Amino acid sequence: MTDLAMTDNQTAAMQNAAQALAETRRLSGKVLIDGQLRKAQAEENFEVIHPGDLSVIGQAPKCGKADVDTAVEVAHKAFVKWKTVAARDRGRMLQKAADAIEANAAMVERVLALDTGNALRTQARPETGSSIDLTRMFGGLAGELKGETIPSAHPDVLQYSTRDPVGVVAGIIPWNAPLFLFVAKVAPAIAAGNTVVVKTAEQAPFCVLFLAEIMNRELPPGVLNVISGYGEDCGKPLVEHPAVRKVTFTGSLAVGQAIASYAAPKLCPVTLELGGKNPSIVLQDADLDLAIPGIIDGMRYTRQGQACTAGTRVFVQESIYDQVVAGVTAKLADIKLGNPMDEATDMGAIISAEQFQRTLHYMEIAHNTPDARVLFGGQRPSDPELGKGYFYPPTLLDGLPLTSELCQDEIFGPVATVLPFTSFDEMIVNANDTPYGLAANLWTRDLSRAMEYVDRIEAGFVQVNQCVAPRSNVSYGGLKMSGLGKEYALDSMLNHFTCSKTVLINRGTPNPGL
Ligand code: NAI
Ligand code: MG
Repeated sequence: MTDLAMTDNQTAAMQNAAQALAETRRLSGKVLIDGQLRKAQAEENFEVIHPGDLSVIGQAPKCGKADVDTAVEVAHKAFVKWKTVAARDRGRMLQKAADAIEANAAMVERVLALDTGNALRTQARPETGSSIDLTRMFGGLAGELKGETIPSAHPDVLQYSTRDPVGVVAGIIPWNAPLFLFVAKVAPAIAAGNTVVVKTAEQAPFCVLFLAEIMNRELPPGVLNVISGYGEDCGKPLVEHPAVRKVTFTGSLAVGQAIASYAAPKLCPVTLELGGKNPSIVLQDADLDLAIPGIIDGMRYTRQGQACTAGTRVFVQESIYDQVVAGVTAKLADIKLGNPMDEATDMGAIISAEQFQRTLHYMEIAHNTPDARVLFGGQRPSDPELGKGYFYPPTLLDGLPLTSELCQDEIFGPVATVLPFTSFDEMIVNANDTPYGLAANLWTRDLSRAMEYVDRIEAGFVQVNQCVAPRSNVSYGGLKMSGLGKEYALDSMLNHFTCSKTVLINRGTPNPGL
């Protein structure tokens, strides 16, 4: 790249940031309730930063019970009407909302990159695209809210079931893929005739508020409400509100368990998408032209490793170990760490001080583990520009025992460990040796081994010879401690956001059955 082109990219990056900043400032201090972007009742705000340079991009309201109560009451009032709108008309409105996002996509992706520190080209733009796609898909599926007829022993009795909306749905979302996770919850809920109140993540509230503002133009007031705040002050009263009849959450295991406990007394169903410590496995017969880039894709380095499906435990068969490690590390050198707003950047900044410290903490453990080797990365970048933000390079380690925290905990940063193995059986046991069961990836040309792995691996999202991110129309969710329920496809709308009545109608003849 010439110096002149560099300057062009950097100039564009500055313009992108300035435009997005104007939006986050406009959204500062606001919530979206009853179709209006309005000042929150909460007096206090918290600062939101851009992780690329730690500049303050706005203030988000620290909503508590007062804002929760207002939002839920508004949503409850809107529900009474919304559930009577014909399902396909609801779907059409959602599809118009998807069109509206598409028309504003250039700004949405900029606000997303500014809010999260995720790189515009590799992450914020594709996430905006998949959020549009998912919204449109659920809009189209609204006509699938069908019940069943049940064969009757009595010819004059019609037996059937309905698919009804549940009421007000509470969504609590994280910051790592905030737009996609937001629409994964609100689009099926709204299509099914529910109204929603979403609490955004404190680290990235503006991109979601901006998206909701755009979608809201196509929806009746009160159907889609968005508030901001911390977990205990805002998330907890939202889950506990008596009018909330369904809770859907993505985030950490500990918070998922807490949310399930808040919802339990009112027997309110909960969908949970939690963490993972996912294996990426390479057998000695694998096509390494697929496996080597696949491991890197699988690590989600372009999202700084902040992905629940990140394949952070890379098991490689011993005979090809050195070749795979050499291939992966050579390619990691091509990943360009830099300003998230710059089109030339592959990998942006870690979201927050807390998550950055978490990565540094695990790296300290690695540096203090006697046999651990840093194969790539492992140190903050020396470029002073990158020193201003939470930048950490893609990092690959080996020599760590399976019992190390680095092989057991979800780091949620750009750090993966490689582990050699000789026996397939032993490797499968080790791959399953975690409380989580979210995703798993295997590279092989041996169909029989692939099928055996599919059978024996304890994961809800299982891939062979690739490691793509979860996507629209493909059901996604975890086993074991990785969650409850599946999202992103038709079954999510039907299973999570409807309730059903079983109805028996007798046309007027005595039914001999008791
Ligand atoms: P978190 O689970 O604390 O936060 C996620 C959401 O839950 C946020 O909106 C937060 O405000 C809310 N929340 C927190 N405590 C709550 C409570 N008591 N009641 C109701 N809502 C509450 O996740 P955090 O702190 O952002 O990240 C910590 C770790 O969690 C990460 O390092 C990662 O391991 C995991 N995580 C997993 C995600 C996934 O996609 N499965 C997403 C984000 C984090
Ligand atoms: Mg937390």
